Amino acid sequence: MTFLYLLLVSFLLATQGFAYPQPLPLTGPAHFTHDPAIIYNPQSDYYYVFSTHGGVARSRELLGPWTAVGQYLPTGCSIVTSNAGHCDTWAPDVHYLSGMYYLYYAISGFGSQNSTIGVATSPTMEYGSWTDHGTVFSSVDGDTFNAIDPNLIVDNGTLLLTFGSYWADIYQFPLSPSGLAPLTNPPNLTWLSFNSTPPQSEEGAFVYQPHGSGYYYLFYSSGTCCGFVAGDLPAPGNEYKVFVGRSESATGPFVDQNGTPLLQTGGTEVLASHDNIYAPGGTSLFWDPKSKKDVIAYHWRPFNNIQGDANSMLGLNYVDFSSVSGAIPWSGI
Ligand SMILES: *[C@@H]1O[C@H](CO)[C@@H](O)[C@H](O)[C@H]1NC(C)=O
Ligand SMILES: *[C@@H]1O[C@H](CO)[C@@H](O)[C@H](O)[C@H]1NC(C)=O
Ligand SMILES: *[C@@H]1O[C@H](CO)[C@@H](O)[C@H](O)[C@H]1NC(C)=O
Repeated sequence: MTFLYLLLVSFLLATQGFAYPQPLPLTGPAHFTHDPAIIYNPQSDYYYVFSTHGGVARSRELLGPWTAVGQYLPTGCSIVTSNAGHCDTWAPDVHYLSGMYYLYYAISGFGSQNSTIGVATSPTMEYGSWTDHGTVFSSVDGDTFNAIDPNLIVDNGTLLLTFGSYWADIYQFPLSPSGLAPLTNPPNLTWLSFNSTPPQSEEGAFVYQPHGSGYYYLFYSSGTCCGFVAGDLPAPGNEYKVFVGRSESATGPFVDQNGTPLLQTGGTEVLASHDNIYAPGGTSLFWDPKSKKDVIAYHWRPFNNIQGDANSMLGLNYVDFSSVSGAIPWSGI
């Protein structure tokens, strides 16, 4: 009852800057987590979280204890770009597809459009089990988009890769059935979301169909993600936060709660700084078969101990996609 109340209040009051619920209490040693990708493996009975810079954590239960278990590409990857030959992977995205786990990642650099989305596969997700397949899709200086922050959704058998961008924000294109390359060359891009107001560029998209829902929700983060200096933070509200829009199709068009298209600077805020939680974002979602709930994962920094970008940690909340009464179910966190 209290929980439902929190969800409802957090949604209804979101735009007025009222409190969001605290992240669920997690156990285990805190370790660096940024742009978390979360999944459950029913075979091994482990939950996994994959992070920017390659780290992996796993746990028997959703609430922990979470334990760091090394890197998903411990010996590097095959992608060499002009500014990131060392294969520092960003913003992983993980899904299970017919007997295999697919992990998409991005290689880029701050302020660069020389970016590549790559993919690795594993039958188990265990340490050392990932095979890197290299580049899926790239962007270069001068493109309208930026090939970062990949996210896969399988829509009635069609693989769709949503990505981007900071440059003109969020795009999507169909992948070949292998999941390793675009379906067509060049990819058939659909523009999904755009905010023209600096510094509110959008990135970190995740298209999610809640368990049992006929709707598709496009989550994304906007604002300043990183490079925080305590005492010299962005103007309040310009730091990372999470928005959502909804569609009856995985390919859009997506609109926010007021019906404003995401392509016209729409977006309903569903998570932002609150209490000691600073600059939450980089979301992924999944259906947890144990709790039988939709779960959102994100990163955040403790406002009282930001430590630049070093102290970035995992946040989890259950999501109630029907917390608002009336004809239109909507999302709360
Ligand atoms: C992108 O790559 C091109 C070609 O290698 C290079 O000339 C350019 O300086 C790179 N841009 C950035 C921002 O790294
Ligand atoms: C799903 O794909 C099948 C085969 O391509 C098609 O016949 C069917 O209409 C599709 N269903 C929906 C809901 O789009
Ligand atoms: C590209 O996608 C659009 C929208 O999904 C579709 O109507 C069009 O036929 C596609 N074009 C090609 C060349 O596949």
